[in-house]
Amino acid sequence: MDTQAIDALVRSLQDEFRSPSNGARAVELLGEYARTQNDWRAFALFSDQHYTRNLVVREPRFELMVLCWSAGQESAIHNHEGQDCWMAVLDGEVEEVRFPMPDGPRGPLAAKGAATFRAGQVAFIRDEIGLHLVRPARTSASGGVTLHLYASPYDECNCYCPDTGSVTRKRLGYHSVRGRVLA
Ligand code: SIN
Repeated sequence: MDTQAIDALVRSLQDEFRSPSNGARAVELLGEYARTQNDWRAFALFSDQHYTRNLVVREPRFELMVLCWSAGQESAIHNHEGQDCWMAVLDGEVEEVRFPMPDGPRGPLAAKGAATFRAGQVAFIRDEIGLHLVRPARTSASGGVTLHLYASPYDECNCYCPDTGSVTRKRLGYHSVRGRVLA
Protein backbone atom coordinates (compact mmCIF):
# COMPACT_ATOMS: atom_id res chain seq x y z
CA MET A 1 0.00 0.00 0.00
CA ASP A 2 1.15 3.50 -0.81
CA THR A 3 2.15 5.35 2.38
CA GLN A 4 2.88 8.72 0.79
CA ALA A 5 0.67 10.76 3.15
CA ILE A 6 1.96 9.26 6.41
CA ASP A 7 5.54 9.56 5.12
CA ALA A 8 4.85 13.25 4.40
CA LEU A 9 3.53 13.59 7.96
CA VAL A 10 6.80 12.07 9.24
CA ARG A 11 8.81 14.65 7.25
CA SER A 12 6.67 17.47 8.67
CA LEU A 13 7.26 16.13 12.19
CA GLN A 14 11.02 15.93 11.53
CA ASP A 15 10.94 19.60 10.51
CA GLU A 16 8.76 20.47 13.50
CA PHE A 17 11.02 18.83 16.08
CA ARG A 18 14.09 20.46 14.49
CA SER A 19 12.50 23.91 14.66
CA PRO A 20 12.22 26.23 17.68
CA SER A 21 8.48 25.50 17.94
CA ASN A 22 9.51 21.93 18.87
CA GLY A 23 6.12 20.19 18.89
CA ALA A 24 3.83 23.22 19.07
CA ARG A 25 2.38 22.30 15.65
CA ALA A 26 1.90 18.60 16.47
CA VAL A 27 -1.85 18.90 17.15
CA GLU A 28 -2.37 20.67 13.83
CA LEU A 29 -0.22 18.19 11.86
CA LEU A 30 -1.76 15.07 13.40
CA GLY A 31 -5.31 16.43 13.20
CA GLU A 32 -4.96 17.38 9.52
CA TYR A 33 -3.58 13.94 8.71
CA ALA A 34 -6.26 12.12 10.73
CA ARG A 35 -9.10 14.09 9.10
CA THR A 36 -7.95 13.71 5.51
CA GLN A 37 -5.83 10.57 5.01
CA ASN A 38 -6.24 6.82 5.32
CA ASP A 39 -2.89 5.27 4.39
CA TRP A 40 -2.44 4.47 8.12
CA ARG A 41 -4.38 1.32 7.16
CA ALA A 42 -1.05 -0.13 5.96
CA PHE A 43 -0.01 -0.25 9.64
CA ALA A 44 -3.34 -1.26 11.24
CA LEU A 45 -3.00 -4.81 12.54
CA PHE A 46 -5.43 -6.03 15.19
CA SER A 47 -5.09 -8.86 17.69
CA ASP A 48 -7.87 -10.70 19.55
CA GLN A 49 -5.62 -10.85 22.62
CA HIS A 50 -4.57 -7.24 23.28
CA TYR A 51 -4.31 -3.82 21.68
CA THR A 52 -1.40 -3.60 19.25
CA ARG A 53 1.45 -1.07 18.91
CA ASN A 54 2.53 -0.73 15.28
CA LEU A 55 5.61 1.36 14.61
CA VAL A 56 5.63 3.84 11.76
CA VAL A 57 8.92 5.57 12.60
CA ARG A 58 11.29 5.95 15.53
CA GLU A 59 13.89 8.69 15.68
CA PRO A 60 15.92 10.15 18.53
CA ARG A 61 13.42 13.00 19.00
CA PHE A 62 10.08 11.23 18.43
CA GLU A 63 8.25 8.03 17.55
CA LEU A 64 5.01 7.58 15.67
CA MET A 65 2.81 4.52 16.11
CA VAL A 66 -0.58 3.24 14.97
CA LEU A 67 -2.41 1.57 17.87
CA CYS A 68 -5.33 -0.79 17.15
CA TRP A 69 -7.96 -1.41 19.78
CA SER A 70 -10.64 -4.10 19.50
CA ALA A 71 -13.81 -3.62 21.52
CA GLY A 72 -13.15 -4.52 25.16
CA GLN A 73 -9.37 -3.96 25.00
CA GLU A 74 -7.72 -1.18 27.00
CA SER A 75 -4.31 0.02 28.11
CA ALA A 76 -3.17 -0.16 31.70
CA ILE A 77 -3.31 3.07 33.71
CA HIS A 78 0.14 4.42 32.89
CA ASN A 79 2.50 7.37 32.96
CA HIS A 80 4.52 8.85 30.07
CA GLU A 81 8.04 8.90 31.49
CA GLY A 82 8.28 12.69 31.43
CA GLN A 83 7.56 12.79 27.68
CA ASP A 84 4.85 14.43 25.59
CA CYS A 85 2.13 12.14 24.21
CA TRP A 86 -0.28 13.14 21.46
CA MET A 87 -3.06 10.79 20.36
CA ALA A 88 -5.06 11.38 17.18
CA VAL A 89 -8.10 9.21 16.52
CA LEU A 90 -8.00 7.65 13.05
CA ASP A 91 -11.07 5.43 13.23
CA GLY A 92 -13.88 4.79 15.70
CA GLU A 93 -14.37 6.62 18.98
CA VAL A 94 -11.81 6.36 21.74
CA GLU A 95 -12.16 7.10 25.43
CA GLU A 96 -9.39 8.53 27.57
CA VAL A 97 -9.83 8.17 31.35
CA ARG A 98 -7.54 10.41 33.41
CA PHE A 99 -6.25 9.87 36.93
CA PRO A 100 -4.24 12.14 39.23
CA MET A 101 -0.59 11.18 39.66
CA PRO A 102 -0.62 9.22 42.98
CA ASP A 103 1.97 10.17 45.59
CA GLY A 104 2.31 6.57 46.77
CA PRO A 105 0.51 3.21 46.84
CA ARG A 106 -2.30 4.54 49.02
CA GLY A 107 -5.37 2.69 47.81
CA PRO A 108 -7.71 2.72 44.83
CA LEU A 109 -7.14 5.25 42.06
CA ALA A 110 -10.15 7.50 41.44
CA ALA A 111 -10.59 8.79 37.88
CA LYS A 112 -10.64 12.57 37.63
CA GLY A 113 -12.40 12.64 34.29
CA ALA A 114 -13.05 10.93 30.99
CA ALA A 115 -13.37 12.26 27.46
CA THR A 116 -14.37 10.63 24.20
CA PHE A 117 -12.51 11.57 21.01
CA ARG A 118 -13.83 11.03 17.50
CA ALA A 119 -11.90 10.49 14.27
CA GLY A 120 -9.83 13.60 13.51
CA GLN A 121 -9.60 14.78 17.12
CA VAL A 122 -6.29 14.95 18.99
CA ALA A 123 -5.66 14.44 22.73
CA PHE A 124 -2.51 15.41 24.61
CA ILE A 125 -1.06 14.27 27.94
CA ARG A 126 2.15 14.42 29.91
CA ASP A 127 2.95 13.49 33.51
CA GLU A 128 2.20 16.97 34.87
CA ILE A 129 -1.41 16.45 33.66
CA GLY A 130 -1.66 12.97 35.18
CA LEU A 131 -2.04 9.33 34.23
CA HIS A 132 -4.47 7.85 31.76
CA LEU A 133 -5.91 4.72 30.28
CA VAL A 134 -7.13 4.47 26.69
CA ARG A 135 -9.84 2.23 25.25
CA PRO A 136 -12.44 2.25 22.50
CA ALA A 137 -15.63 4.01 23.57
CA ARG A 138 -18.57 1.73 24.33
CA THR A 139 -20.35 3.30 21.35
CA SER A 140 -17.53 2.08 19.08
CA ALA A 141 -18.54 -1.55 18.55
CA SER A 142 -15.77 -2.21 16.01
CA GLY A 143 -13.05 -0.79 18.25
CA GLY A 144 -10.76 2.06 17.28
CA VAL A 145 -7.47 3.06 15.71
CA THR A 146 -5.24 5.82 17.11
CA LEU A 147 -2.05 7.53 15.98
CA HIS A 148 0.38 8.15 18.85
CA LEU A 149 3.27 10.56 18.81
CA TYR A 150 5.75 10.38 21.69
CA ALA A 151 8.45 12.98 22.07
CA SER A 152 10.87 11.62 22.94
CA PRO A 153 10.49 7.82 22.56
CA TYR A 154 10.61 5.60 25.63
CA ASP A 155 10.82 1.82 26.12
CA GLU A 156 9.31 1.36 29.58
CA CYS A 157 6.65 3.05 31.65
CA ASN A 158 4.95 2.79 35.03
CA CYS A 159 1.63 0.92 35.18
CA TYR A 160 -0.64 1.53 38.17
CA CYS A 161 -2.94 -1.00 39.82
CA PRO A 162 -6.41 0.63 39.95
CA ASP A 163 -7.20 -1.06 43.30
CA THR A 164 -4.02 -0.32 45.24
CA GLY A 165 -2.12 2.37 43.29
CA SER A 166 0.96 0.13 43.32
CA VAL A 167 3.36 0.50 40.43
CA THR A 168 4.91 -2.05 38.11
CA ARG A 169 7.40 -1.29 35.37
CA LYS A 170 6.23 -2.40 31.94
CA ARG A 171 8.51 -2.98 29.00
CA LEU A 172 6.93 -1.55 25.85
CA GLY A 173 7.39 -3.23 22.50
CA TYR A 174 5.99 -3.26 18.99
CA HIS A 175 3.72 -5.83 17.37
CA SER A 176 4.77 -4.70 13.92
CA VAL A 177 7.33 -2.38 12.34
CA ARG A 178 6.45 -0.61 9.06
CA GLY A 179 3.62 -3.14 8.55
CA ARG A 180 5.79 -6.21 9.13
CA VAL A 181 4.50 -8.36 12.01
CA LEU A 182 7.16 -9.24 14.57
CA ALA A 183 7.43 -12.82 15.82
C1 SIN B 1 0.80 2.72 24.70
O1 SIN B 1 1.62 3.50 24.20
O2 SIN B 1 0.97 1.50 24.66
C2 SIN B 1 -0.43 3.20 25.43
C3 SIN B 1 -1.14 4.34 24.86
C4 SIN B 1 -0.85 5.71 25.44
O3 SIN B 1 0.18 6.01 25.97
O4 SIN B 1 -1.69 6.56 25.34
